[in-house]
Amino acid sequence: MKARAYVNFALIKYWGKKDEKLRLPYQASLSFTVDKLYTDTEVIVNNNLKEDVVYINGVKDDKASIRVIKHLNLIREKYNINKFVEVKSINNVPTAAGLASSASSFAALTLAATKAFNLSLSQKELSRLSRYASGSSSRSIYGNFAIWDVGNDETSIAYPLDINWTEFRIVVLMIDKSKKKASSTDAMKESVKNKELYDNWVSESKKDLNQMIEALKLKDIDKVGLIAEKNANHMHDLIESTNITYRTDESLKAIDKIKKLRNSGVKLYYTMDAGPNIKIITVDSEIDKIKKHFKEYELLVCKSGPDAKII
Ligand code: DP6
Repeated sequence: MKARAYVNFALIKYWGKKDEKLRLPYQASLSFTVDKLYTDTEVIVNNNLKEDVVYINGVKDDKASIRVIKHLNLIREKYNINKFVEVKSINNVPTAAGLASSASSFAALTLAATKAFNLSLSQKELSRLSRYASGSSSRSIYGNFAIWDVGNDETSIAYPLDINWTEFRIVVLMIDKSKKKASSTDAMKESVKNKELYDNWVSESKKDLNQMIEALKLKDIDKVGLIAEKNANHMHDLIESTNITYRTDESLKAIDKIKKLRNSGVKLYYTMDAGPNIKIITVDSEIDKIKKHFKEYELLVCKSGPDAKII
């Protein structure tokens, strides 16, 4: 059974868990699933196997397999299954460079594995199950805009937002494809320890989310862009209050350029995740101007992507 799930980029970030094991977030997040970056994962039940065999991008990587096997164990335990599988996962995403590859990887794994085990889960159930593997993957079950709610084990799931904004674009500005130094899981843990700053992040991000939903309904790119920037900057300020930083000199240089271009009248904003790459938030009419001014970077212009699906 083979599934494809697409990467999502958060406009309002998920940062911090109130329950590590159940992966329950402290605050709700909102994302946009894109069409150009995705993971294809094949899961084959093989009765001859004594353990799972995992290939990621064609390689048997024991370290990367640990999280995959952990998720398979969880699915097997939950649904009383005792079969081992072969997993072949291909990312068309530079792995761990802050391009949210864990979101598409675990959403694809959850869908492919449950189908391979003959389970037929709803999108809600898939979102919840995927959440256990990686929080942001709960949102990659859905295409387009999605919100992942806070709540308890039962209710902390993602759902799609009914917004049809065909001109909306995210342009990935590839700054560094190398593997990030600190995983988001670890960096989050550090951030939560900083109680006063962390509480402020939670209360501000709640306000940001409400404003973002309103701005998206209005399809107001200036409002959407400014709220997303504020939210991402807040998250990175919080992260930098620990010993971790994802913003490199190269990222800051690109941000500076984005601001200058914006001052000249182009509608473009940015967001950043747990890596140095920048995601430009914009609309279709601005793409040619952006391409002209960012010639020195590898750009990936993304539109709205679909739900995770069996292929
Ligand atoms: C910065 O979903 O990778 O991309 O639940 O520990 O696997 P774990 O974290 P992960 O965190 C993503 C953080 C982010 C923001 C976001 O996507 O909301």
